[in-house]
Amino acid sequence: MMFSKLRVLAALSPFIIGSSLVVADDKGPDFSKMKVQDIFGQYCANCHGVKLEGGQGGSLIDGEWKHGSSDEDLFRSIAKGNLELGMTPWEGILSQDQIRAMVIFIREKEKEAKVKGMSFPVPEPGKLTKTQHHDYIFEMVVEKGLENPWALAFLPDGRKLVTEKAGRLRVVEADGRLSPEPVADTPKVILHGQGGLLEVAPHPDYASNGWIYLGFSDGWREEIPGKKKPKIHTQTAVVRGRIKDNAWVDQEWIYKADKAHYTSSGAHFGTRFVFDQGYLYFIIGERGGLKIAQDLGNPAGKIFRLHEDGRVPKDNPFVGKEGALPAIWSYGHRNPQGLDIDSRDGRIYNTEHGPRGGDELNVIMPGANYGWPVITYGMNYDGTPMTSETHRKGMEQPVTHWVPSIATCGLSFYRGEKFPKWKNDLFVGALKQKEVRRLRVVDQEVVEEEIILKDYGRVRDVTDAPDGFIYVILNGPDCIVRLTPQR
Ligand code: HEC
Repeated sequence: MMFSKLRVLAALSPFIIGSSLVVADDKGPDFSKMKVQDIFGQYCANCHGVKLEGGQGGSLIDGEWKHGSSDEDLFRSIAKGNLELGMTPWEGILSQDQIRAMVIFIREKEKEAKVKGMSFPVPEPGKLTKTQHHDYIFEMVVEKGLENPWALAFLPDGRKLVTEKAGRLRVVEADGRLSPEPVADTPKVILHGQGGLLEVAPHPDYASNGWIYLGFSDGWREEIPGKKKPKIHTQTAVVRGRIKDNAWVDQEWIYKADKAHYTSSGAHFGTRFVFDQGYLYFIIGERGGLKIAQDLGNPAGKIFRLHEDGRVPKDNPFVGKEGALPAIWSYGHRNPQGLDIDSRDGRIYNTEHGPRGGDELNVIMPGANYGWPVITYGMNYDGTPMTSETHRKGMEQPVTHWVPSIATCGLSFYRGEKFPKWKNDLFVGALKQKEVRRLRVVDQEVVEEEIILKDYGRVRDVTDAPDGFIYVILNGPDCIVRLTPQR
């Protein structure tokens, strides 16, 4: 044991005095600017291994924890250490925020190691893919001709509408053929970063009223004298219109933000629509503005509720509140890219991208604050910490969260009959992890989570269809596929 202690002292010698560890003011490393992976490499790897596989200190990726396995337990192990056995108490050397970031880092590596030896259902067109409750065939619906498809909607006559991010609305005919010409005269979108033509959905009474809703990045380019590139101003907007002779007609604005709230950021636009009882719900992400997600006077980082014609409902939670936008339904969101409603109880769920770590599934309640960026289960992309706070009074906790991030995109309850054992399960798309996950949620708790599709492409959207099949939009390869049951 003396040996371990000496190793600690050796590792920390520039900045420890005696047996109590303090950061030296002058010569010691400035931890506050360090990335978590560098801190680990320099101050933990000598005992726990470069790959966290263990050495003189135990493995941090074998799933076995001597002092408890929760995030809180790991936090305490790092903070309090165990000098007797050679584990430095890092409290006071690393900040609370950095210790939290270290827990996220260990979770990432633990997960990486865990999935290495696992096999996942990787589908191939036309072949059978097996999962826990159902086996399915993965069928190509549109294999070629789409560029960056983003969302898919179903019309009662069997046709489908697909958005392409660059600003084209495409029609897939009932026979599966992709109509060569995009719908003419759709609104001008500003293609910038993650922005473009995003969501499409027909009104629930489309058969009688013909309304189709679009969500996109609206804005303008401002020429700046002396600058080569124009300055871009964008914000998420919603319109509705009709399609007549393959042209967009009768357009009405449903939501357009104040000009002052347009930004040059190309991040986190949101959209995704839910219709319920005469209301339209939709998302605007925080546009990279972090704290503005907490500002009720700014549309970024919010979920909205409007009447289907764009009027603000009188019973919205912030109507009459000084300085608040009355269309807001909930706030404190980062980058939600999934929204759907549970037909059993009318609860609305969202999925949102965290930063590095901390993707969330939430139940959306009126007036509620989802905490971004005050509380989060993630850290910054570069490995510097955000905050150690994951909970705070007055802020909602997610139903579940993912560390490492899976990059959630698209969310759909399964309402159909073709996969009876999946009835009312939630399907979650994941861009980065190239997955569709099936979640069973009972009393707002996830009781089953299964990857049902992996590694065919980045999953942009997953949706159940009126025909009872499940459709998936993939980016890279850009295509639309369908899951049909075999068991
Ligand atoms: C000098 C060697 C040494 C260094 C440096 C060191 N550890 Fe440890 N660590 C240990 C030992 C030994 C244990 C086991 C202590 C025990 O059994 O109580 C341990 C335990 C732990 C545990 C608890 C494991 C469990 O099974 O519950 C965690 C988490 C941990 N270390 C993280 C870190 C992190 C993060 C760093 C760097 C900031 C670090 N350690 C640096 C030696 C070290």
